[in-house]
Amino acid sequence: MSEALELEPGALPDGDIPDAGPRRSPPCTMVIFGGGGDLTRRLLVPAIYNLVGAGLLDEGFSIIAVDWSDLDTESLRTQLSETMRQFVAQRRASAASLQEENWEWLSQRVSFLRGAFDDSQTYQTLSSLCGVGNCVFYLAVAARFFAPIVAQLEGAGLTRETESRFRRVVVEKPFGSDLSSARALNAQLRNALDESQIYRIDHYLGKETVQNILALRFSNGFFEPLWNRQNIDHVQITAAETVGVEKRGRFYETTGALRDMVPNHIMQLLAMVAMEAPISFDADAVRDEKSKVLAAVHQLSPGDIVRGQYAAGSIAGRPMAGYREEPDVSPESETESFVAMKLTIDNWRWAGVPFYMRTGKRLATRKTEIAIHFKQAPYALFRDTPVDKLTPNIMVLQIQPSEGVTMQFSAKMPGPTVKLGGVRMKFDYADWFQEGPSTGYETLIYDCLIGDATLFQRADNVEAGWAVVQPALDAWAAGHGSLHPYAAGKAGPDAADALLARDGRHWLRLNG
Ligand code: BG6
Repeated sequence: MSEALELEPGALPDGDIPDAGPRRSPPCTMVIFGGGGDLTRRLLVPAIYNLVGAGLLDEGFSIIAVDWSDLDTESLRTQLSETMRQFVAQRRASAASLQEENWEWLSQRVSFLRGAFDDSQTYQTLSSLCGVGNCVFYLAVAARFFAPIVAQLEGAGLTRETESRFRRVVVEKPFGSDLSSARALNAQLRNALDESQIYRIDHYLGKETVQNILALRFSNGFFEPLWNRQNIDHVQITAAETVGVEKRGRFYETTGALRDMVPNHIMQLLAMVAMEAPISFDADAVRDEKSKVLAAVHQLSPGDIVRGQYAAGSIAGRPMAGYREEPDVSPESETESFVAMKLTIDNWRWAGVPFYMRTGKRLATRKTEIAIHFKQAPYALFRDTPVDKLTPNIMVLQIQPSEGVTMQFSAKMPGPTVKLGGVRMKFDYADWFQEGPSTGYETLIYDCLIGDATLFQRADNVEAGWAVVQPALDAWAAGHGSLHPYAAGKAGPDAADALLARDGRHWLRLNG
């Protein structure tokens, strides 16, 4: 007889042998275009600092921040130190106080190059600074600079790889604004680079909880047999935010919730949940499966998509302005800040299983999660329990801010008669793993340095994401699809509820 295995949070089950840990990255110069900007200060440098703390960077690592702002190496270092101290105080970097030794190690390796992105002189200077070593060129700039920077890099010979050196380019979103612009951008990048040199970031893939979806599905025996149309009724994907457009009105006006969140982040979540098991965890094996499942998404019908825009309201008792009153937003704006849709996937695993998704700003609560709703059990055994009183079996993959997995099911309530009650079982990351705060960029930066592209989007993945939403973009451009207002602090417009109600279903509550 086998012994029961009792696991305490933090304990390793038998057979789990801690490995030697990840290897150090090779020596590399990281050239950050937009190195004087927000992304560099708030996310990239804190993430790199965390990698220093984890001992994952080589002595030969350095950063060249390229920007046209009025900075020099000294003032950039001072600025970065201030931000780091602030972040550490707010527990947004990895230690309770700044580890001076680690910060010193990193800040001494940061230098500033003042230059315009369209000036060939900038690239000549870079050429001599980079020498013959490995380089990662990180494009932390507005999308209009992507293609020109890459063309200049190529013109200066900076993208040429040899046996002994790699040259990689990291591209941030937005990657195009529709299918044809994404294709055009891919073509421009591939004029100068091999696909293997391009690392397209989707920061959702840097989240531990998103990476855990594949671990959960494919390293456990008991989920996968149930993960199909025989057992799953439908899936709900929610990415709800309480923030509004903040200072990004100008960008958001031409972008909107659909372009901002769906072809990229939401499609990545969908792909992780719905893809087939890859034959290995090699970058291409994983990305092949993602592309396949996105290609199998049935053409979106404009009737299956709802767009909304927040009006004035309140969140947690605080009054909130409506979208049209936000800075840099037109008072007649027709841009959506919320989108909900129903998708189906035409393959053997998922035929007939709707995937509902919703995302929006100024909603009741901040919550990103994927809820797998299982089919009801046959109920003959519980004749006195009406089937609609049975607790639905729902497995919720909580991405953020709660990080974990919950399972909801029925259990017998104590007492002499058979009565069923709903219960919930919960795995919480924080109970099991002691991870310090992270920016979510650590894994992505480290993976790029070691050449592992698994968590980056390949050209076909990006295009497949856009292909899914293109019918909605076309319909809206042709004037179809009304914009439904919702009060800030609500769960979205009523029309989003109607999208599920017509199928006899309802969204999980946002609060709770
Ligand atoms: C970004 C969008 O890509 O993702 C933002 O441009 C959005 O509008 C953000 O707020 C959400 O990211 P997260 O990690 O907070 O869920």
